[in-house]
Amino acid sequence: KISACIFDLDGVVVDTAKYHYIAWKSLANELGFDFTEEDNERLKGVSRMRSLDILLEIGGVELDDKTKLELADKKNKNYVEYILKMTPDEILPGVKDFFNELKEQGIKIALGSASKNAMTILNQLELTDYFDAVVDGTHVSNAKPDPEVFLKGAELLGVSPSECIVFEDAEAGVEAAINGNMKCVGIGSPDVLGKANIVVPGFVGFSMAQLNF
Ligand code: BG6
Ligand code: MG
Repeated sequence: KISACIFDLDGVVVDTAKYHYIAWKSLANELGFDFTEEDNERLKGVSRMRSLDILLEIGGVELDDKTKLELADKKNKNYVEYILKMTPDEILPGVKDFFNELKEQGIKIALGSASKNAMTILNQLELTDYFDAVVDGTHVSNAKPDPEVFLKGAELLGVSPSECIVFEDAEAGVEAAINGNMKCVGIGSPDVLGKANIVVPGFVGFSMAQLNF
């Protein structure tokens, strides 16, 4: 029996990777090196500080912890300027129809995101009311593939992990779902998300009827 669906945010509900990219690239350029879209793929699903470490590694730059915190904060301020301009038009295709299907079936909806900006994004997209529980980067201390973010979601909803389906676009997120004893639907390519129970390209035409969990 499935009682709840837990959604990753970035790359599942909305494409924020393009804004992360602009903000990280501008920081890299200030530090004197380039940062490509291919490099940006490595940051999907990765925490803010870990993202900065990967970026600095690409540029061959070493910095002390205090400077790193300042740079992460600077990148975030730039990123937030972009997400504050987001509108509900940016919800990925099919997502809202699927949320409505879940509501009709009495299946609970939770968010399980690494982002500390999750609430800002949900508010911009006018999706906040769909969520019965929100767990984001401000509530957890262990990053995916640790299952903490999803287990907290199940706990808040009062359901057991085996009754949950996680929707994820990043490999570490799929692993987090598996580590939490949850079912997982990968959103993206089977090459990257092969460990998920099923992988679909997106939510257009997607329905619970396609799952035999
Ligand atoms: C994840 C994104 O959802 O959140 C990552 O996929 C991002 O790219 C991470 O680094 C942390 O986000 P934020 O908004 O707290 O910097
Ligand atoms: Mg993601």
